[in-house]
Amino acid sequence: MTGLMDTPKPITVPTVAKSSPAHAGLEDTVAGESSICFIDGHRSRLIYRGYSIDDLAKSATFEEVAYLLLFKKLPAQSELKSFSDQLKSQRALPNQFIERMSSIPKELHPMSVLRTLVSALSFYDPDAELMNHDSNLKRAVRVIAQAPAVIAAWDRVRKGKKTVDPRSDLNHAANFLWMLHGKEPDALFSQAMELYLVLLADHELNASTFACRVTASTLSDYYSGMTSAIGALKGPLHGGANEQVLKMILEVGEVSHVEEYLKKAFAEKKKIMGFGHRVYKVMDPRSPLLKEMSEKICVKPGNENLFQITEKIEEIVCSVKKLPSNVDFFSATLLYSLGIPVDLFTPMFVLSRISGWSAHYLEQISDNRLLRPRAEYTGALDLPFIPLENR
Ligand code: ACO
Repeated sequence: MTGLMDTPKPITVPTVAKSSPAHAGLEDTVAGESSICFIDGHRSRLIYRGYSIDDLAKSATFEEVAYLLLFKKLPAQSELKSFSDQLKSQRALPNQFIERMSSIPKELHPMSVLRTLVSALSFYDPDAELMNHDSNLKRAVRVIAQAPAVIAAWDRVRKGKKTVDPRSDLNHAANFLWMLHGKEPDALFSQAMELYLVLLADHELNASTFACRVTASTLSDYYSGMTSAIGALKGPLHGGANEQVLKMILEVGEVSHVEEYLKKAFAEKKKIMGFGHRVYKVMDPRSPLLKEMSEKICVKPGNENLFQITEKIEEIVCSVKKLPSNVDFFSATLLYSLGIPVDLFTPMFVLSRISGWSAHYLEQISDNRLLRPRAEYTGALDLPFIPLENR
């Protein structure tokens, strides 16, 4: 007999371009083209579709930014009105969707719940599997509109409170706070929420966006793309850091305790949440904008010392570790001052970033090639198989 009964040939390992240790974690690896967002990490610049984040933060609403990301241009007045009306008309959730929330265990982390609820929105979309651009775009607008209702409703349901219907006289940011608290926010709170939503809307190929694009590249549906992204955002090295930052600030408790706390953390080689960034080496340009707003709204009785604690932490981490604060650091005190429950901080990130993920999903699908990298194999080869009874 030939072939089949021959001694097995040794396996040849296919040649894979070796990733140098400098590229561990895909650092500095360009994984595709995109016209959505540009980051210049050395000059601390962040650009959405050509527009600087500083200008957008100063002058644009979240609705304008979401339009810019999805439609590739700033909206004219009539386009913005029509887009805002579309968002407003789709804010409410199906009654059955809200009723089903009551069967979810209340003690789960809201990011786990959100991962499931965003996926479950597809049950109410009869065209969920339709993959053409227009239908995905319509779906993206609807999900961006519904995300605030999902987060606010879950927070109220888990606390045994009645959900609050959306209001069409409020913009996206203010309406979210209304649905969460059942109280109309004042002008400063609305402004702070708006700023947060604008600043976090997109950020190139961060881990969650990359996860979204990998899923999109298999030509899987929009909801699967968003669900993949939410799962990736949840981790404390990414979006989950904002919750950890606030826990650290509360643990520190007093400005006078900061030095001792950090000395111990450095000695134990602990990561200080809200510091460091894969791309920004000098400064995260979102951080000073969030810091400024955070200082303005940390004025509620009981919160006054929070901002001072953050300033002191920033001062020491920057001087000792030479690490700049990232977007999650001053977001934490801003969200806390808005009365957002701490475990809802990362869902707040979703509220904004779902606009960027949607733009990336659409861009990936529009010029797709399956994202399928290789691994450098470091395991064994040619091991003789040992029958179960002999192991
Ligand atoms: N605290 C203390 N040391 C740090 C921190 C930190 N926050 N961040 C980086 N370092 C140190 C590392 O220990 C490492 O030191 P070493 O070279 O002596 O080992 C060096 O700086 C390089 O850090 P890496 O972790 O290799 O950097 P990487 O680019 O892989 O990670 C990351 C970036 C994950 C953001 C990291 O800085 C970190 O863990 N930060 C804290 C978590 C955080 O704030 N995440 C949110 C990031 S922003 C966002 O995703 C929305």
